[in-house]
Amino acid sequence: MNILQSKILQKQDPELYKYIQNEKKRQMEGLELIPSENYVSEAVLSVMGSILTNKYSEGFPHKRYYGGNTNIDDIEQLAIDRAKKLFKVEHVNVQPYSGSPANFAVYLALLEPGDPISGMNLLDGGHLTHGWKVSATAKFFKSYPYHLKPDGRVDFDELWKIAKEYKPKLIWCGATAYPREIEFEKFAEIADSIGAYLSADIAHVAGLIVGGVHKSPVDYVHVVTTTTHKTLRGPRGGMIMVTKKGIKKDQDLPQKIDKAIFPGSQGGPHNHITGGIAVALNEAAKPEFKKYAAQIVKNSKAMASEFKKAGVKMISDGTDNHLILLDLSQYGGLGAQLEFALDIAHMTANKNTIPADPASPYYPSGLRLGTPALTSRGMKEKEMKQIAKWITEIINYIKDYKLPQEKENRQKFIADFKAKMKNDKFLIGMGEKVKKMTRNFPVPGIRK
Ligand SMILES: Cc1ncc(COP(=O)(O)O)c(C=O)c1O
Repeated sequence: MNILQSKILQKQDPELYKYIQNEKKRQMEGLELIPSENYVSEAVLSVMGSILTNKYSEGFPHKRYYGGNTNIDDIEQLAIDRAKKLFKVEHVNVQPYSGSPANFAVYLALLEPGDPISGMNLLDGGHLTHGWKVSATAKFFKSYPYHLKPDGRVDFDELWKIAKEYKPKLIWCGATAYPREIEFEKFAEIADSIGAYLSADIAHVAGLIVGGVHKSPVDYVHVVTTTTHKTLRGPRGGMIMVTKKGIKKDQDLPQKIDKAIFPGSQGGPHNHITGGIAVALNEAAKPEFKKYAAQIVKNSKAMASEFKKAGVKMISDGTDNHLILLDLSQYGGLGAQLEFALDIAHMTANKNTIPADPASPYYPSGLRLGTPALTSRGMKEKEMKQIAKWITEIINYIKDYKLPQEKENRQKFIADFKAKMKNDKFLIGMGEKVKKMTRNFPVPGIRK
């Protein structure tokens, strides 16, 4: 929010203004460790808060169902052209409202209801939209999820078996909580062997790919989906891309994808977001972004090495990307307690399941940590090591608060734990140290 807008809002709607100020303070004073979050630049923010939100423009550039879209056509085409160049793909749709609708449109474009599909199991790090049982993607399609091996890597033997037995028409690669580089070529070998579509969901690692630190899926897959708001550092939105390989398999694929978005599953595009995506893509094409992407991974490796030194276990014993998944199973399901304790100390992370979690999805044995947001603030290895030390101290401080075995006692146990920790001097003291650290690292897009 720019200064002028915030003054107007303060006068007109002080109640909402106060809440935004509180959130601004939280974002500035705390350490944002959720790997799917980031801070957009002031330029991106200003386009999202612009008059572009006023316009209806169902359809696509130069093929609209509403008049007055000359300027919107220019803006959407700019976003498309920038994405095509940056990701080196043949066709891009920049209209998905977010990552989930983008993925759903892929199903709609490629499959008939009831067709078999395969994606990484949610509890192993996959996304809901890759066929998890409660998602529409498993209700309308037949889902055969693949899992990780005990070493925390994708079980390709299992995926080969699924491919031979169930012949999925669509295979997803890409994940939400997987700390290793995605081996696109291995997925392609399996998908190609049965003539399946292969779709890479690069929501988490899009920034690492365009920043040149991770391999691009473009030569291996038919379709690529992404969110625009994670490592790519754009507004909350999504994109679907079609590759050369995709067009070779089906020359109508670009039109099928576009139709699946509109009129298949969405209405008017969010033009203020499309504009923001165009700005973010321009930022991601700059040399500084390459440095940023490289630093994200350096930071996460620095954090992982500190955890390793301290004997804190991690799924797959480390990381190749922007995230770390702590394995707290030795403490009997500590994820929820640790997430809360970190919150008191102004560190935001999220509890997460680990593969074959012995606890439960709601009270899981893992904690997911990521470095994209902290790296956007200019933090480097030194800060990451310090943060890993603080987190280790907190784990040791709360590790005896074991989740009760009996399910019916868990809710009360967590409520009591929270009541106790809320005023805990050690955690509050740690929060003061965190605040001191964050003062030296301004948040992009936020002026004091
Ligand atoms: C791999 C992956 N795909 C898709 C999504 C869905 O994105 P959204 O929350 O924007 O719908 C996410 C979100 O976390 C994700 O991690």
